[in-house]
Amino acid sequence: MGGTEKKLLRALAGETLPVPPVWMMRQAGRYLPEYRATREKAGSFLDLCYTPELATEVTLQPIRRYGFDAAILFADILLVPQALGADLSFVQGEGPRLSTVTSAADLARLKPAEAVHETLAPVYETVGRLREELPSETTLIGFAGAPWTVATYMIAGRGTPDQAPARRLLYGDPATFEALIDRITEATILYLSAQIEAGAEVVKLFDSWAGALPGLWFRRYAIEPAARITAALRAKYPEVPVIGFPRGAGAGYLAFADAAGTQGLALDTSVDPDWAAQALQPRLCVQGNLDPLLLVTGGDALVRETRRVAEAFSGGPHIFNLGHGITPEADPRHVEIMLETIRAPRQ
Ligand code: CP3
Repeated sequence: MGGTEKKLLRALAGETLPVPPVWMMRQAGRYLPEYRATREKAGSFLDLCYTPELATEVTLQPIRRYGFDAAILFADILLVPQALGADLSFVQGEGPRLSTVTSAADLARLKPAEAVHETLAPVYETVGRLREELPSETTLIGFAGAPWTVATYMIAGRGTPDQAPARRLLYGDPATFEALIDRITEATILYLSAQIEAGAEVVKLFDSWAGALPGLWFRRYAIEPAARITAALRAKYPEVPVIGFPRGAGAGYLAFADAAGTQGLALDTSVDPDWAAQALQPRLCVQGNLDPLLLVTGGDALVRETRRVAEAFSGGPHIFNLGHGITPEADPRHVEIMLETIRAPRQ
């Protein structure tokens, strides 16, 4: 298979590499002047997501600048709610705003899962263009939000610190909550399948708010939907690995590693790498988990902690990444220092 020279695919297949493949969550983003320029040209963030030429351009920018081992499709997890019929806008400086789903009547107004392709077709075109334009050693990652995280935005209509509106619906109208999770799960399977058909070589499920799920419900609404999506994709595309990211899951990372069926597991900043190397890495490829703040602060701490993360995971399959997305305040030169540190020959 042509995939074997791609380091990211080798790590996800379980290989321990002398230098881990590396990419960063939100690697195409506001810390890069070239991103801000293209974003300006596009007008709005959503126009950028839905214009294949520009979405391709911003996906490639960090690859050109840094030579990461993987490119992640430029899009957003909230395109799926929009494709299901939610009104979506991004308010400058305030984040996303959506129409809300808080009752059976709201749910009934959503479109069926099969309808998502109408809205999302430009995203598939971006994936196709990227596969043509990326260097042969660079792996293309597609993605979607995990059902719980997507549901939190659909229910609250915005980001909230603790996902109280979603938990309210879970307790107050479990049938509607469950039906919403199911609808998103089905839509996600269709969306990721189409990304794979268009050329995505790995897919990642972002459950960025998994840590806000009460522990009693973690299995039901984080692990089970991820397992359903992974099983459906692996049945059709057994060669395409899935990376799970149950951010903030804490002890739930163990059960997720055992039961979600993913080949990769992205670790958030809170996870102790030495624990994860012992408890998780023998089961699957781990990804992470440098604190993104170090790319703002730089200095000795950046070099020291980059080395510590790389060292902790050097005995098994590992993809070097951050514990969450790089922030707009990060200094692009600090990313270079991080890369030099990871790729320097070991002492
Ligand atoms: O990682 C990448 O480089 C690929 C592109 C990507 C974006 N969003 C682009 C984006 C990916 C994978 C996402 C995922 C995403 N989107 C998540 C899960 C990952 C995470 O960070 O936890 C979530 C929760 C969202 C929803 C979302 N999108 C929010 C809450 C916001 C506003 C907050 C913010 O950072 O501004 C966005 C906007 C967004 N998505 C931006 C980018 C580059 C910034 C928008 C801009 O350029 O103005």
